[in-house]
Amino acid sequence: MSRIYLSIPHMGTLEEGYVREAFATNWLSSVGPNLVEFERAFSEIAGGLPCVALSSGTAAIHLGLKLLGVKRDDEVFCSSLTFAASANPIVYEGARPVFIDSERASWNIDPDLLEEALEDRAKKGKLPRAVVIVHLYGQSADLDRIEKACARFDVPILEDAAEALGTHYRGEQVGTRAPISAFSFNGNKILTTSGGGMLVARDRALVERELPASGRSSRAVPPWYEYRDIGFNYRMSNVVAGIGRGQLAVLEDRVAARRAVAFRYVEAFADIPGLELMPQCSYGRHTNWLSVFLLDERRPA
Ligand SMILES: Cc1ncc(COP(=O)(O)O)c(C=O)c1O
Repeated sequence: MSRIYLSIPHMGTLEEGYVREAFATNWLSSVGPNLVEFERAFSEIAGGLPCVALSSGTAAIHLGLKLLGVKRDDEVFCSSLTFAASANPIVYEGARPVFIDSERASWNIDPDLLEEALEDRAKKGKLPRAVVIVHLYGQSADLDRIEKACARFDVPILEDAAEALGTHYRGEQVGTRAPISAFSFNGNKILTTSGGGMLVARDRALVERELPASGRSSRAVPPWYEYRDIGFNYRMSNVVAGIGRGQLAVLEDRVAARRAVAFRYVEAFADIPGLELMPQCSYGRHTNWLSVFLLDERRPA
C-alpha cells in the first residue's frame, strides 16, 4: 500500500554543509555563525524586524507572551481552531485562555466575535492582556479587521505564524505586523530545522532589553551571575540553525509545491457533496500546510 504522508521534511543541498561546518569549526553551542546568518536571512523575509531563533515555536509564543506582560490571573484571548501550543504557554504563565471561534471565510479567528468579546470585557472593566491569533494551515487571518478591533481597546496581538512561513497577507509575510510573532520549524512545517522556532518582534529595544534576561539564554545581565528574572534556556543551537539556513534558501520552492498540492486537492474533491476544503482567501497567499476537510453536517446521508 502506498502512503501519502502528511508533511515530511524536505532537505535541500545546503543544509548538511552548514551542519558539517559547525562541527568542523567547533561552533557547537547556542552561539555561532549559523545562528547569526539564519536570523539575518529570516529577518529579510520578516521585513527587517529583529528575529531570535529559539528551540521551538512554543518557546517563541511563551517568551512573546512574557514580553507582552502576561501574568497570573490575566485573560488572554486565543483562536479556538488551532494546535494546543497556541494556548499552552498562556497557562504556563498562570493566565487563562479564552477561546474565540473562527469565521467560515478563513477558518481563523472571527474578527466580529473578537470585537464582541472585547466589548464585553471592556464593560466588565477587565480587558485581556493580549490576543493570540493564528494563521492556521498556512492561511492568513484577516489582519486588518482583527487589528482594528484590538486597536479600539488597545490590546496587543501575538501572531502565531507557526504554520505560516511563506504565507502573505496583502503582499506581506504574516507574522510581521503584530508587536510579537512566533514561527515554528517543527518537523511537519514548511521548513524544518528538525525542531525550532523564531520569535519576531517589532520593537528592537524590547527584545534587546528583556530577552537576554528572560529567555535568549541562561546568561545573566549584567555579565556576572546576578539574575533579575526567572530565565528560560530556549535558545536554538548553532548546529540546528545550519539546517534552517539551508532550508530558507528553498522556501519559495516549498511554497509553490504546497500550493500546487492544495489546488490539486481542490480539483480532485470538487464534486464530492458535503466535503469542504479550507477556502483560500483572496487577500493573501496561502501555503496550505495541510489539506483539511470540513465535513458539512448538512451532507446528504
Ligand atoms: C499553530 C501552531 N502553534 C504553535 C505550534 C508550536 O510549534 P512547535 O512545535 O515548534 O513548538 C505549532 C506546531 O507545532 C502550531 O501548528
